[in-house]
Amino acid sequence: PYLSSLLPFSREPPTMNPVVEPLSWMLGTWLSDPPGSGTFPTLQPFQYLEEVYISHVGQPVLNFSFNAFHPDTRKPMHRECGFIRLKPDTNKVAFVSAQNTGIVEVEEGEVNGQELSITSHSIARISFAKEPHVEQITRKFRLNSEGKLEQTVSMATTTQPMTQHLHITYKKV
Ligand code: HEM
Repeated sequence: PYLSSLLPFSREPPTMNPVVEPLSWMLGTWLSDPPGSGTFPTLQPFQYLEEVYISHVGQPVLNFSFNAFHPDTRKPMHRECGFIRLKPDTNKVAFVSAQNTGIVEVEEGEVNGQELSITSHSIARISFAKEPHVEQITRKFRLNSEGKLEQTVSMATTTQPMTQHLHITYKKV
């Protein structure tokens, strides 16, 4: 009755599509450790917790969701989910994300070993999105020598040039 019962979860883990193998180091459930650091010239530095789920269903695509929480109150904060695609037989990567702040973005870049660097190609937003608007986003993901996933996000807004906004390390849970 449920569409999800058509997916292989209830049977056996789906076989990974070889196209996404270069990104297999991102797969899993990850939890910030230590809490992430937020910065920006216009903001007081802040910390946040984040849960990350990166999975696949056998397609040549990864599915992701990033869910941030306030470190003290545990209230949900920034949330985004989307897909990561690889161009077959290349290291070209496309990252598509919808965010609870009312923006939707496409980033492109490449994976080299256990490092993924991407930059925004297009950003769309709802008509009443909070200002200042983000104009460009770059991210780097890497698996560090301790087997932890790291994400660094920089952005340019209508008032500030490209500057780091987030840095976070996640342990696999
Ligand atoms: C503020 C963008 C992810 C927490 C902002 C601002 C922008 C922005 C444009 C306003 C900056 C200013 O006022 O000059 C983004 C983008 C993200 C992202 C594009 C993802 C790609 C996150 C995440 C957190 C976070 C994961 C974690 C909790 C905050 C906080 C502020 C802020 C606390 C200041 C208060 C507020 O404006 O809500 N962000 N952000 N952001 N961001 Fe992010």
